[in-house]
Amino acid sequence: MIFFRKKIPNLLIRTDFHSHLIPGIDDGAKDMTHSLQLIKELSNLGYRRLITTPHIKNGQYNNTIESIADGMDMLRSELVQNNIDMHIAASAEYYYDEAFLQAIIEDKLLHINRFVLFEFSYVVPPVNIEDMIYELKARNYTPVLAHPERYLYYHTKLDQYEYLKNLGIYFQININSLAGHYGKSTKKVAKYLSEKGFIDFVGSDVHNSKHINVLKDVISDTEYKKIFNNNKILNDDLTI
Ligand SMILES: [Fe+2]
Repeated sequence: MIFFRKKIPNLLIRTDFHSHLIPGIDDGAKDMTHSLQLIKELSNLGYRRLITTPHIKNGQYNNTIESIADGMDMLRSELVQNNIDMHIAASAEYYYDEAFLQAIIEDKLLHINRFVLFEFSYVVPPVNIEDMIYELKARNYTPVLAHPERYLYYHTKLDQYEYLKNLGIYFQININSLAGHYGKSTKKVAKYLSEKGFIDFVGSDVHNSKHINVLKDVISDTEYKKIFNNNKILNDDLTI
């Protein structure tokens, strides 16, 4: 007798570390219908646990711990009502600005297992990151830089990545960078970080269905598989 098994995508992990799925609070899911659609699509890809990370950026995305918790409550109850079986938790993607420094000092941070996700400006290289890292570590947090491969000002200064790693910063790359979704140079740097063994987390950084369509293809790519050979990926080690 021949058994036909449903083809399971080669996702290699079950936990996503970075996404924008709470409706209407940043540039991700627009409304609840959109949120549920994205979560169903991620489930079909093989994800079982999602950490969603709304932007917190002073003046642009003025999200707070409370507003994100409210959004999560609404999303969770909709998942139950719609019989969508997905474990979801909220953290945040902090923009590196004064408000972030203040949140660190006040010890009012969204985090997952004390991992704090943050991003830099795409245009201006960050200054005084050593102080920020010191303050995070002093409070027993581990800093995680979102998509290090996307900061073009580091592409010609690859030694900066080693410097950031030596400061104790963990790296989360976007899986879609390997598809060239953010440009050729970003793809090249993602491969470089993989080969150096610098990657700690991978993320979908899903904002919309386009991102999921790219993910579908890239997870069959050998470069994606190589990440797991070259690096110790922590996604599935998290308790959420
Ligand atoms: Fe993001």
